[in-house]
Amino acid sequence: MNEPTFHHRQNKNGLLVDRIRRDGLEKTIRLLSGLISLVLIIGVSVSPRVSGQPQVRDDLSADIQIPPPPFTDGIFPCMDCHADMETNPERRALEDFHDDIVLKHDEENRWCMDCHDAENRDMLHSASGKPISFTESYKLCGQCHGPKLRDWKAGIHGRRTGSWNGQKEYLLCAHCHNPHSPEFKKIKPEAPPLKPGEIR
Ligand code: HEC
Ligand code: HEC
Ligand code: HEC
Ligand code: HEC
Repeated sequence: MNEPTFHHRQNKNGLLVDRIRRDGLEKTIRLLSGLISLVLIIGVSVSPRVSGQPQVRDDLSADIQIPPPPFTDGIFPCMDCHADMETNPERRALEDFHDDIVLKHDEENRWCMDCHDAENRDMLHSASGKPISFTESYKLCGQCHGPKLRDWKAGIHGRRTGSWNGQKEYLLCAHCHNPHSPEFKKIKPEAPPLKPGEIR
């Protein structure tokens, strides 16, 4: 039988066939399997999708959908009215407008401008003064309710729907909690069900 002939330039390591000829099959297989596991290790550590652990992400980004903030119709943009108004930072009962808002949320220590921006009423702001949009109000809540924010991101608190690996939908904290009076309203218990004998 004729040996097949290969026409190619030689370089240091040569083609696989040359290597097999030179170093023997066993050594080459060891080299190749080493390379393959390296590729796998890199692949797994780069892609969060295949690492098996649910990822708690710091940034809720492209594949996260959040419905718009649950504003009262017509109240936003706030600057429709507030652009022409002086800010009144004084703690008081509001009478001319927003008289439905009564603060019942750590109210001894808090007032409107702790969360709302005095200059741009269309924004919230962090304790350090960094603007936060209403579509990201969970960042505001998370400053004081860190563990809840963490649970929320992980889909344990609140409600997350969508696919495990793909697009997800979250509800804002404000979809369930009124930021001004966040205590979840107690539900009045229903009367107990009738016993079978009482049903006629
Ligand atoms: C703990 C932070 C916080 C405080 C304190 C606070 N707010 Fe808010 N407020 C919010 C957040 C967050 C929203 C957005 C709710 C939403 O997404 O619909 C909001 C919404 C509003 C809205 C829109 C309500 C609507 O009907 O849609 C008004 C008006 C408002 N705040 C006024 C006030 C006034 C006035 C005060 C002070 C008496 C105040 N807020 C205190 C966080 C706060
Ligand atoms: C239709 C006009 C109007 C809109 C829209 C409006 N406000 Fe006001 N807001 C008022 C008036 C009027 C007052 C003063 C009420 C008072 O002093 O009794 C006020 C007062 C406030 C105050 C108390 C501090 C201050 O400057 O007097 C806050 C905080 C506030 N508004 C937040 C908001 C936010 C947040 C929005 C949008 C989500 C909003 N407002 C939308 C009319 C409006
Ligand atoms: C500056 C700190 C601070 C921020 C910001 C803040 N909270 Fe709170 N929150 C508190 C404190 C303190 C309490 C406990 C005292 C109270 O209930 O009044 C509390 C209580 C609560 C409670 C429990 C109420 C109850 O009695 O069961 C809920 C729910 C809540 N906050 C939701 C929110 C949401 C939603 C946001 C964002 C819109 C938010 N908080 C932003 C400080 C904060
Ligand atoms: C789908 C609705 C929903 C969403 C979204 C949601 N919560 Fe809640 N949360 C609840 C309910 C219901 C309770 C009441 C549980 C109870 O009373 O046992 C609660 C309770 C709380 C409490 C007080 C309970 C305790 O453990 O002391 C805090 C604080 C709170 N939520 C903060 C948040 C924050 C911050 C966010 C956003 C990052 C958020 N929640 C998002 C439904 C929700």
